[in-house]
Amino acid sequence: MTQRVLVASNRGPVTYQFAADGTLTATRGGGGMVGGVSSGLAAVGPKGTVTWICAPLSDADRVLARQDPQALDPDGIPVRMLDIPQDIFDRAYNNVANSALWFVHHMLFDTPNQPQFGYQFRRDWEAYLAYNEAFADALADEALAGAPVPASGGVRVLIQDYHLSLAPRLLRERLDGLPDVGIGHFSHTPWAPPDYYRLLPRDVGRAVLDGMLGADRVGFHAGRWAAAFLDCCEVILGAEVHKGDPGGTGPAGRVRHRGRLTEVEVHPLGVDAPALQARALAGDVQAHVASLSRATGRRKLIVRVDRTELSKNIVRGLAAYRELLATRPEWHGRVVHLAFAYPSRSAIPEYRAYTDHMRRVAQEIVEEFRTPDWNPLMLEVRDDYPRSLAACALADVLLVNPIRDGMNLVAQEGPVLSERGCAVVLSREAGAAATLGDDALLVNPYDVSETAAALHQALAMPDTERRRRSAALAATAAASPPARWLGDQLASLDR
Ligand code: F6P
Repeated sequence: MTQRVLVASNRGPVTYQFAADGTLTATRGGGGMVGGVSSGLAAVGPKGTVTWICAPLSDADRVLARQDPQALDPDGIPVRMLDIPQDIFDRAYNNVANSALWFVHHMLFDTPNQPQFGYQFRRDWEAYLAYNEAFADALADEALAGAPVPASGGVRVLIQDYHLSLAPRLLRERLDGLPDVGIGHFSHTPWAPPDYYRLLPRDVGRAVLDGMLGADRVGFHAGRWAAAFLDCCEVILGAEVHKGDPGGTGPAGRVRHRGRLTEVEVHPLGVDAPALQARALAGDVQAHVASLSRATGRRKLIVRVDRTELSKNIVRGLAAYRELLATRPEWHGRVVHLAFAYPSRSAIPEYRAYTDHMRRVAQEIVEEFRTPDWNPLMLEVRDDYPRSLAACALADVLLVNPIRDGMNLVAQEGPVLSERGCAVVLSREAGAAATLGDDALLVNPYDVSETAAALHQALAMPDTERRRRSAALAATAAASPPARWLGDQLASLDR
């Protein structure tokens, strides 16, 4: 029996660019969702055939989507890029998904001024609907191409993230009556509590919930986010909600709405530890290990690796480092903070302003504390994956202090990569706090003084304790590898 697995996500596993001579070059898609799904697809096994449907992100992708929508990804997974007009994509991705839904779920709005949902938002919302319809059409097309389905292992559809919250319902409408098609939706973000979710216009908030409830299974990384989703279904939608254990993994509750039942589940995503450790042994990473070691001397290293993302709370992280240096002069000359941020969502004005703010604060810290033979801080805004792995390998302390985060993979990758064992200063608002909380140093991400104190505690921690905590963190991260994360979701759709 061959089971078909259809993945749908905004960002796909590959994106293309035109070289100067007009030829196409392929680059792997980045970020936690793409990494988790790509690596998790190993769980599908030889009995499965996979197609990954994604949006075109670059000019070259758009050309390809028109000429040859069935591209191949670098791992040999068939990828189908949708021919979505740039204007529709920009409105759906930048204005609705990333400026409204992302801001709601991460509770990022500067509420005296934003959001303002006016007539322009209505146009954006129409584009978001069209974008979701394009995915639903393609998924239905792929699912129906596999018919007659009952003779086979069925079709399992894995829809990813807040970009595609309407797609499960739209797909269900297109597949009406077709047996053995299981639809799952997974959110890699947090979910907002009803009082904050209510910032969305009433019909929009309801449409998002109703759209997701078109799925058979709705998944989150942490019990908190699943519980908030269930609360929103109850309060905003008036659906019949049954809540389970809010702290555990697996089933978290169920929602009955419009005559259908949707299971809400928790599937934490960890890391593929052996693959990550093997990658870190490669020459490009080891060259960075050598050059970073030379540049920072024998000093202790506080490391952070993020996207230039508002929710990652980089500015308060820098403020905490500044407070550490201001209040604990014993660390002067003995510690270096490596803050590596790779550019993200630069089309959104708030992201550009935030990146400038980060750079300004970093510059101030360097000017305030540097000495002729000590540079206290290196902030780099550039995408360099091998260098990020090298920094994690060398870290004594990893700082992960998001305002809110669906999971956070860096907090898990750091201990797995660490050579000497690293202490993790972790925001209590990261989904990963649910699994790593016993062995990390948890902080309130808004409390700069508490974060500075945790950095001091982490730096001063005895070696044996740091190594013990790091080993425990690495073991927890390795216990939920992507293959298990994705395999559990498929098994759940089979039930
Ligand atoms: O957290 C949601 C998420 O999709 C992550 O999986 C990923 O790291 C990030 O957002 C990427 O965002 P974008 O595709 O906008 O760069």
